[in-house]
Amino acid sequence: NQYQKGVKHLVENGLHSVPKKYILPPSDRPGTNSEDSNVAKQNLELPIIDYSELLGPRRQQVLQSLANACEGYGFFQLINHGISDDVISSMRDMSGKFFDLPFEEREKYMTTDMSAPVRCGTSFSQTKDSVLCWRDFLKLLCHPLPDFLPHWPASPLDFRKDVATYAEKTRHLFLMLMEAIQESLGIIEGKETEGKDNILRELEDGSQMMVINFYPPCPQPDLTLGMPPHSDYGFLTLLLQDQVEGLQVHFQDQWLTVQPINNAFVVNVGDHLEIYSNGKYKSVLHRVMANSKKNRTSVASLHSLPFNCTVRPSPKLIDQHNPKRYADTNFDTFLAYVTTREPKRKDFLDSRK
Ligand code: SIN
Ligand code: FE2
Repeated sequence: NQYQKGVKHLVENGLHSVPKKYILPPSDRPGTNSEDSNVAKQNLELPIIDYSELLGPRRQQVLQSLANACEGYGFFQLINHGISDDVISSMRDMSGKFFDLPFEEREKYMTTDMSAPVRCGTSFSQTKDSVLCWRDFLKLLCHPLPDFLPHWPASPLDFRKDVATYAEKTRHLFLMLMEAIQESLGIIEGKETEGKDNILRELEDGSQMMVINFYPPCPQPDLTLGMPPHSDYGFLTLLLQDQVEGLQVHFQDQWLTVQPINNAFVVNVGDHLEIYSNGKYKSVLHRVMANSKKNRTSVASLHSLPFNCTVRPSPKLIDQHNPKRYADTNFDTFLAYVTTREPKRKDFLDSRK
């Protein structure tokens, strides 16, 4: 039907009000439910982690800030991360150009197969959302790259080359961050070659999924959302947002807007890191607001273990005083979950405690 073609297609065909299919029940609308009243536009100052300092004499202090951020917010902004402005601007450029392609060109990648290496779609979970969201996306599997690159879009020109470079750089950054995170959790065996909790080695062969999100202007942004409240799959998400705000984080019972910092990454703890840390680090709900004026584009890079691996709390974080708080989980459990339920409202994790 017409909605499967996405919101960009809808907007391009002229639209003065939001179709019924996108209208949320009043209690789920942004800024109208009681917990949101008068605070929907408030900003959230996320902790800022200076990556360059992690590599220098202040490492121990930065590790402490990292631990505080992952425990208290589940989110932080990463600056001075070493990925060059060129790599980032090429990635932004390719994201824009891809969504500028004619609909027929993007349509080639539309599929409901959740494990397709390349997938264009709309809404959050297109096949089961009872209310649709104001977002189109392109999902790309990225690791191992030689397996997936030949499936990626060949146009726009240089898409594969520039996006592959960006994917490799973010992946490297993710692995460096995970090493720091392990250290911040007091699990020091990262560099050991033996040992049953050597998760860094497993993560090196892990999955990477990149999602390019496109949110066109919405005629009635108060009635719908770009993305519903959800937490992320995986260990960490590295998000590149543009200068158009929209991302909100659930913090102390309020929805607060994350101010864009140019070329910084918004990094957040995913469900798998919450499980791995045995609940010490939090995978926090977030959502995306629609807006009536501007296109918004973001690139999320989600990282985890290989799809066939089991995620479990680190044995090093379990003892007499800290019992195991989560059941083991894997990708099949996740797929079964997302394909049978409404947007992930954290009950995925809560039901496991
Ligand atoms: C996401 O939650 O993955 C996307 C966030 C955004 O578009 O800012
Ligand atoms: Fe997310």
